[in-house]
Amino acid sequence: MKYLLSDIDMGEEEAQAVADVVRSKWLSLGPRTEEFEALFAERFGVRHAVAVSNCTAALHLALKACDVGPGDEVLVPSYTFVASVNAVLYQGATPVFVDINGPHDLNLSIDNLERKITPRTAAIVCVHLAGYAADMDRLMALAGRHGLAVVEDACHAIGASYDVGSDVRLHGRKLGTIGNVGCFSFFANKNLVTGEGGMIVTDDARIAEVARRCRSHGMTKTSWDRASGRAVDYDVVDLGYNYRGTELTAALGLIQLGKLARSNARRRDATMRYRDRLADIPGISIPFADRIDDSGHHIFPAVLDDAASRPAFRKHLLDRGVQTSVHYPPAHLFTQYASRCPDPASLAMTTDIAAREVTLPLHPLLDDSDVDAISALVADAAAAIARPLVEA
Ligand SMILES: Cc1ncc(COP(=O)(O)O)c(C=O)c1O
Repeated sequence: MKYLLSDIDMGEEEAQAVADVVRSKWLSLGPRTEEFEALFAERFGVRHAVAVSNCTAALHLALKACDVGPGDEVLVPSYTFVASVNAVLYQGATPVFVDINGPHDLNLSIDNLERKITPRTAAIVCVHLAGYAADMDRLMALAGRHGLAVVEDACHAIGASYDVGSDVRLHGRKLGTIGNVGCFSFFANKNLVTGEGGMIVTDDARIAEVARRCRSHGMTKTSWDRASGRAVDYDVVDLGYNYRGTELTAALGLIQLGKLARSNARRRDATMRYRDRLADIPGISIPFADRIDDSGHHIFPAVLDDAASRPAFRKHLLDRGVQTSVHYPPAHLFTQYASRCPDPASLAMTTDIAAREVTLPLHPLLDDSDVDAISALVADAAAAIARPLVEA
C-alpha cells in the first residue's frame, strides 16, 4: 500500500525507552506510570490522570465512577466506535442513541440529544469526532440543568483545545477536561500511540479514586506500593477489574506526549491542504471544512453525494495504493445493538451520512506531496464514479 490510512511517528527514542524498562525488570504499574500520569495531568491542566489498559476500560471506569448503573439511560452517539456504547452496557445501563448534526458536522446534535432526555437519563457520553469539539457550551448547560454526568470520549481529540462557542469560561480548556471526566486512547493508530493504553482525566478526587482502585481489582494498594515499601498489605473495597497500564506503555507514552504538539500540527497542515485540494470536486463534500478551531485532526472524513458509489470509489483508490476506511458504521445498525434502538428514524442523519462517508489517509508522516497525490487520485475516483451516471 503506497498511502496508508494511518502511520506513526515512532523510532529509536521509543525503542530505547522500552529497552530501559525491560532492563529495570519492573513491567506493570510503577514509577514510569506515575511519571506519565503526572506529566499528562500537568499538560492537560487537570488534577488527576489515571493510566489504564485502553480507552474502553477508561470509559467503563468513568461511567462506574459517575455512579451510572442498571435502570439509568446514557445518551451516546451512534456515530462512534462501538466501545463508547459497550462501556454503557458493561455498567448495566441503557444506551440511548443520539443523532449527528449533518454532513458538515459529524458531532452530536444537541437538539436531538435534548429531545431524548428522560427522568432516567443519568449521563452523556460525548465524542469529539475526528478531533473537532462537540458543542460543549450547549451540552454542558443542558447537563447542568438536568443534573447529568458528562463523560468525554476524547479519543480523536487528544491535545486539542476548546476555543469555539460563546461560553468563554470553557475557552482554552483541553478537550477531555470539560466534562466530569475525560477518556483517551493510545491505541496503535491514535495521535499518541503506545499500542494499547488509555488515560482517565478529571478534577474530581472521588472519580479519580474510584478509577484508581477499580483499574486494579478494587484494591487499596498496588503491587508497586508494596514493592517500593509504601505499603505492606491491602484491602479490597470495590468490585474492580484488571485495567492496569504497564511500564512499557508508560515509557512509550512519555516520549509520545513530547511529540504530540508537533505531530498534531503536521496533521493540521495536511488537513488544510486536503481541504484546499478537494474543495471543488463534484460529488464530494468535506465535513468540518469551515472549522478553524484547534482540532486533534485524528482522521480526514469525506462524504460522497451517492452512497451506492462508495464501494467503487474506494476500490478505485485501493487499486492505486490509497488505503481508505469508514468512520463509522453506525452502532445502531450492528446486530448487537439493533434490538436496543427502538427509534432508528430519529437517527436519520447518522444512517444517511455513515453510508456515504469515506476516510482518507491522515497521519503525521504524510507530506505535502502525498496529500497532493492522494487528492489527485480522489478527484480521478470521483470522476470515475460520476461517469456511469452521466452516460445513463
Ligand atoms: C471514539 C473512540 N472511542 C473509544 C475507542 C476505544 O479505544 P481503545 O481501543 O483504546 O479501547 C476508540 C478507539 O479505537 C475510539 O476511536
